[in-house]
Amino acid sequence: AQVVQAEFVKSSVRTEDCPSDGLPEFALVGRSNVGKSSLLNSLVRRKRLALTSKKPGKTQCINHFRINDSWYLVDLPGYGYAAAPHELRTDWDKFTKDYFLNRSSLVSVFLLIDASIPSKKIDLEYASWLGQNQIPMTLIFTKCDKRKKKKNGGKRPEENVQDFQELIREFFQTAPPWIMTSSVTNQGRDEILLHMAQLRNY
Ligand code: GTP
Ligand code: MG
Repeated sequence: AQVVQAEFVKSSVRTEDCPSDGLPEFALVGRSNVGKSSLLNSLVRRKRLALTSKKPGKTQCINHFRINDSWYLVDLPGYGYAAAPHELRTDWDKFTKDYFLNRSSLVSVFLLIDASIPSKKIDLEYASWLGQNQIPMTLIFTKCDKRKKKKNGGKRPEENVQDFQELIREFFQTAPPWIMTSSVTNQGRDEILLHMAQLRNY
């Protein structure tokens, strides 16, 4: 299930403009700054294939990366970036939701949740939206390397993960699969790649 080849293919803002070769794909979505681009780099073992930043709002398009010439990882802009201009934000929301609903080669959405802080309302809203629209989803908890801090609510990543799963239970008939990860220690990398390989072979 390892990545031997990874290349950036294109950036799109409309679903119609995405690659049309029909290869299966997985989209990384989550709050701005949750670590989507970092996770992508960790999965492909490259430092800067997807661009990352300390400042939220770095990724602004639907970015397709072809893996092993046979499937795609898709880096998406984050939601919930308060400093972005309002029209830009609703635009992102529209094009990512249109992409989820209409992209037939999308195998599963990987929803990233920051495990180093208590969950945010907007994360619950997103999980609920995906559940209501019956979009296949895997939960990826990020930043599991971070130690608990008082200013972050004083809970360990494991506790935040439990709390989040409790809160979203009502949105799903069966609980979505979940994986704890860190792009610093590469925790969860092999588990994600294996999970993606299993989903592709269905
Ligand atoms: P947008 O493109 O703005 O939506 O953000 P993003 O979700 O792609 O986040 P990005 O990968 O750019 O990471 C944001 C910040 O979080 C960077 O400073 C990363 O170094 C840091 N970060 C990402 N993943 C981890 C992690 O697993 N552990 C720790 N400690 N920091 C992380
Ligand atoms: Mg990004």
